[in-house]
Amino acid sequence: MERTFLAIKPDGVQRGLVGEIIRRFETKGFTLVGLKFMKVSRELAEQHYGVHRERPFFPGLVEFIISSPVVAMVWEGEGVVAAARKIIGATNPLNAEPGTIRGDFGVNVGRNLIHGSDAQETAQTEIALWFKDEELVAWQPHSKPWLN
Ligand code: TYD
Repeated sequence: MERTFLAIKPDGVQRGLVGEIIRRFETKGFTLVGLKFMKVSRELAEQHYGVHRERPFFPGLVEFIISSPVVAMVWEGEGVVAAARKIIGATNPLNAEPGTIRGDFGVNVGRNLIHGSDAQETAQTEIALWFKDEELVAWQPHSKPWLN
């Protein structure tokens, strides 16, 4: 089953949006298989955003991600990678549609509340970077037949 990596960034946690953000994936019908509340090390932040290493915003992005705790999650479901990106909205919250997380709660590209893997391959790399196998729970919620 397809899985994606999501992380509620420090601004989402500081603003008290953890419940609201998780609710959107839960009520959509995706299945939570991994969850941890953690401070991010500089090494992990630099690895996670490694593709942006040469970009001017990289140092500030790393400082921001390590500045305060995040909620790291793995969600499972059919089409979850692309669907989560839709639920999250465009990178710049000012361009994000109302109804998306960034569209509803953000104004600043550097404070856009949540990360979501951009492709299935990236998702696999990010899940392996952030979670150990034993931290992921394979389970089948009883309510699923009602969705399908
Ligand atoms: P990116 O991977 O392009 O976006 P997304 O998070 O939507 O996959 O960029 C990673 C993060 O880098 C982005 O969430 C916020 C930050 N960022 C900036 O601070 N300034 C920028 O101009 C861009 C493009 C990204």
